[in-house]
Amino acid sequence: MEEDFLRINTGIPGLDGMIEGGFPFPSTILLAGESGCGKTTFCLQFLSEGARRGERGLFFTTLSEPANWMLRFTSRFKFVDREAIGRDIIYFDLGPYFKTRYPPEDRYETLKRVIEEKIVELMPQRIVIDPITAVGGILREQYREFVFDLSQSLKNWQATTLLTGEAAFDQRYPMEVAYTSDGIILLYNLEHQDGRRRYIEILKMRGTDHVTGRHMVDISRDGLSVQVGFK
Ligand SMILES: Nc1ncnc2c1ncn2[C@@H]1O[C@H](COP(=O)(O)OP(=O)(O)OP(=O)(O)O)[C@@H](O)[C@H]1O
Ligand SMILES: [Mg+2]
Repeated sequence: MEEDFLRINTGIPGLDGMIEGGFPFPSTILLAGESGCGKTTFCLQFLSEGARRGERGLFFTTLSEPANWMLRFTSRFKFVDREAIGRDIIYFDLGPYFKTRYPPEDRYETLKRVIEEKIVELMPQRIVIDPITAVGGILREQYREFVFDLSQSLKNWQATTLLTGEAAFDQRYPMEVAYTSDGIILLYNLEHQDGRRRYIEILKMRGTDHVTGRHMVDISRDGLSVQVGFK
């Protein structure tokens, strides 16, 4: 008999029903889309859902946002339990490890080591790296190998990981991340007569019978929600 995956809820209303109840656990999922389409909000909903269920979340930012950024960002949303931040949802800034005081040849190993040490220390069930594509600007020709290497080691942890990224102008999603991910979710806007509308599309979800095509998404103080049935 075919072995079934364990699933964890995404935290996005309407999405679990499109992917057999949630993300495979463990797995690595690429969340792709241009700036402002809701990637960070999605990640926060994913971690908040985990916190509600007693699962620990680890949020790596690569953008060197200030320590209180997370609190300011999250204060806009109703789904965040502020008590959980720093307790069940740990925020960790990878930005300092991108700095030039680390010679380029050491950055690969340093980044990998820091990420792994933090995972071993906290043993999170849910991990976010937002955005993973920033690593590309630092590691350049080593980036593809790094993402492959990281994805392999992430699969060894009992965690589901969201890697976020913006695609190059001529692509729909970051190719270097896509080929090694178990799932790809796309967020995007389309122009309509009455303005732009937000959409979500599942391009791949390994071992999962998933709904195809674009589906409308709304963002409010409750975060993202899929408008089930609206294409
Ligand atoms: N209460 C709200 N109601 C409606 N829209 C909102 C609300 N709060 C945030 N938004 C919108 O949700 C979007 C979510 O932005 P978010 O930071 O999650 O995107 P992102 O994909 O991470 O962007 P970037 O790539 O720049 O980091 C923003 O464009 C913002 O306009
Ligand atoms: Mg963001």
